[in-house]
Amino acid sequence: MDNQRLLDAARTAAANAYAPYSNFAVGAAVLLTNASVVTGVNVENVSYGLTICAERAAVSAVVSQGQQKNIEAIAVWAAKNKHGSVTPCGACRQVLAEFAGPDLKIITASAQTGEAEATTLGCLLPSAFTSL
Ligand code: THU
Repeated sequence: MDNQRLLDAARTAAANAYAPYSNFAVGAAVLLTNASVVTGVNVENVSYGLTICAERAAVSAVVSQGQQKNIEAIAVWAAKNKHGSVTPCGACRQVLAEFAGPDLKIITASAQTGEAEATTLGCLLPSAFTSL
């Protein structure tokens, strides 16, 4: 699957976001090496701090569904931002590092053009903490 299609899946998923407090709807789409796509959205909470980001929701869905955990790429899209451009927060980067290495592809929309663009987890989270 190409980067743009995975980004489209994240955008479609964002319609299901539960974001009544921030009004900042986010969708994420995980591509597994078996070509399955699993999506997630942000799920906010009145306590604010219990909010779950779309990326973590997507990773949790992969695990909850009993899918194989070989993650090839993740796309993320935020409805309110220009062209949907957004990058995963620090906490989500660390959660991704639990299930993928530094080569994990992270797909976002360019704030300038809206085109899908790719970076890596290693680029966004260098020297991730990976072992006790
Ligand atoms: N959020 C995500 O779901 N993913 C991100 O990468 C950035 C932030 C959510 C959390 C919260 O519900 C809202 O966006 C505003 O921070």
